[in-house]
Amino acid sequence: MKPSIYITRKLPESVITPLQKEFEVDMWEHEDVPVPRDILLHKAESASALLTMLSDKIDRELLQKSPSLRVVANLAVGHDNIDLEAAKEVGVTICNTPDVLTETTADLTFGLLMATARRIVEADRYIKEGKWKSWSPLLLAGLDIHHKTIGIVGMGSIGEAVARRAKGFNMNVLYHNRSRKHAVERDLGVHYTTFEELLTQSDFVVVLAPLNEDTEGMFQDEQFLLMKDTAIFINAARGPIVNEEALEQAVKRGDIAGAGLDVFEVEPIDADHPLIKLDQVVALPHIGSSSKETRYEMMALCVENIHAVLKGNKPRTSL
Ligand code: GLV
Ligand code: GLV
Repeated sequence: MKPSIYITRKLPESVITPLQKEFEVDMWEHEDVPVPRDILLHKAESASALLTMLSDKIDRELLQKSPSLRVVANLAVGHDNIDLEAAKEVGVTICNTPDVLTETTADLTFGLLMATARRIVEADRYIKEGKWKSWSPLLLAGLDIHHKTIGIVGMGSIGEAVARRAKGFNMNVLYHNRSRKHAVERDLGVHYTTFEELLTQSDFVVVLAPLNEDTEGMFQDEQFLLMKDTAIFINAARGPIVNEEALEQAVKRGDIAGAGLDVFEVEPIDADHPLIKLDQVVALPHIGSSSKETRYEMMALCVENIHAVLKGNKPRTSL
């Protein structure tokens, strides 16, 4: 019997064809609806490999109930949906998709920063709603980006790629990270600060840290109060790093000037979410790595990693 692979979301045929020769490939049939938990558990029970989305919980229960499972390839760089410790205990290799999405996610992050500062989304809506009657001196006046100070929280590869973009805008770049990155400081001319210093000095606070026990709930009332009232907050990492209620109040009170959010505490959000009722907030549906080129590369990398592990080889990217 061929080893079986379960894919938790409908992916293009061209992506899965390379697997079909050697493996039994089964796939959840919807593109935009996640696989229900009971079906995932059932499929995992007999699968040798899973190709998963960040919305699938790969926890201890699933890992322990899946005796033939050898590899989980997650279509994301983040892996907070996976219990790495439990995976290690049961000998399942966990693969993610770093590197291939770095520049694409940095583009989106910087684009979100620009859209928020220069009110691009609001301006588009303004025209489409037929409100543009005249040119006026302060019409949709936003905030400058060039020569301002950006503070990057989480200086991994994506943080570095955002720092390079910021340098192109002549920005002063601060960062805060668990460990200091001396080579990056030297190469890019960025400055390490404490978290508090970063918050008080930055015009743009950009979160690119992974979600873990150190970063969960890192932004509360206190952190927003430390920020400048002209500051813009950008989160392109994970929603639970931020207390959304605190962020909402900070924007409403004018403690900060606005926020650009690609991620939310509980995704997806609906049109009633209080944060998206605010004009100062630009919201995106978790599309950081979503360029056609990069999403196809991520899918191909997952396929390559699954193939490698099932053939007894070392995967290209594992955790
Ligand atoms: C997306 O959020 C990812 O982790 O790749
Ligand atoms: C704006 O378009 C200007 O010409 O200043």
